[in-house]
Amino acid sequence: MDTRIKKIADTVSAYPDFPKPGIVFRDIFPILANPAVFSDLINVMVERVHASCPTPDVVVGLESRGFLFGTPLALALKVPFVPVRKKGKLPGEVKQVSFTLEYGTDTFEAQAGRIKEGQNVLIVDDLLATGGSMKAACELVTSMGAKVTLCLVCIELADLKGRDKVKHPVDTILQF
Ligand code: PRP
Ligand code: HPA
Repeated sequence: MDTRIKKIADTVSAYPDFPKPGIVFRDIFPILANPAVFSDLINVMVERVHASCPTPDVVVGLESRGFLFGTPLALALKVPFVPVRKKGKLPGEVKQVSFTLEYGTDTFEAQAGRIKEGQNVLIVDDLLATGGSMKAACELVTSMGAKVTLCLVCIELADLKGRDKVKHPVDTILQF
């Protein structure tokens, strides 16, 4: 095993019964508190991108924890970063997609024009649970005429089978 990945996995904290009984919450913030591990993670993500898809034209990060990994990754790849945010937070003309959560629905938005027709897009997030957020982000990017070449996520909660919901290539660094 890549020793960097073992170190990243050991750095993620697990909190039983948070935020509800029965849930083991995986906390990514200890990674950001350790610059050497954070740097290793971004380097591993860059390698995964180079190994599995054409260099993207744009990196899209999902609010909010997806911004933490998407921005350094975009900088390392020397391509623009574009945020996908929850409804009502981005100014100007926006494109929208609504999606179902465990309870109720939510809406993601991206600023019109930030993602252009025909572009190759890498979508980044911290964690894949049910896959609902990633699926919706893929729909939003696709609706703007672009192509999702890879969905790259730090942590996959494998039992929830979120990747089955996403109809685009998914790569994850850690699986719990
Ligand atoms: C969390 C996480 C992912 C999403 C995964 O975000 O950061 O974006 O849930 O869940 P899913 O696969 O079931 O859709 P959250 O909506 O809690 O927002 P946050 O990043 O602002 O905390
Ligand atoms: N950790 C962090 N965010 C999450 C989790 C988790 O285990 N499950 C769903 N969102």
